[in-house]
Amino acid sequence: MQTSLPNQSIALSNAGIKWLKIAIVYLIVGVAMGIVMGAKEDFTLRPVHAHINLIGWTTMALAGLIYSVFPQAGESRLAKTHFWLTNLSLPVMMFALAVLMFGHKEIVPVLVVSEIVAAASIVAFAANIFMNLRRQ
Ligand code: HEM
Repeated sequence: MQTSLPNQSIALSNAGIKWLKIAIVYLIVGVAMGIVMGAKEDFTLRPVHAHINLIGWTTMALAGLIYSVFPQAGESRLAKTHFWLTNLSLPVMMFALAVLMFGHKEIVPVLVVSEIVAAASIVAFAANIFMNLRRQ
């Protein structure tokens, strides 16, 4: 049996494409780290691998898909705040976490600040979803 889809064009947002392209870069880095960890049997950077995959790939790709389906949310001011807070905090957070995993506790203040900024980006994301997600 054939089902017919409504003849409706969806205006995909540029924001969605941007998020998805950055997310796939994190997936490549995260998977490469997983392969190296496994090959060397050295799991020191396991939490970095997990967060690169789960925030960098999964969470960012989901944001990209949501902003593609709901372009008015993808182009909002909150979406821009979400984008910049995430993309500035995550690389610093991953670097600081890696340094900490190698035993350098003096990096903790950098890690804490980057984590607070990353959490703020999630707050912007949540606010954007609540305020700007609506039917086309
Ligand atoms: C080819 C792809 C991947 C490889 C080779 C890989 C490899 C690994 C390895 C070797 C570990 C450590 C296991 C251990 O300590 O016993 C690990 C842990 C983990 N990986 Fe991956 N991984 C891959 C993809 C992913 C993806 C796509 C995600 C998430 C979206 C992910 C999330 C995690 C998590 C959450 C942990 C556990 C971290 C922890 O317990 O602290 N991995 N992975």
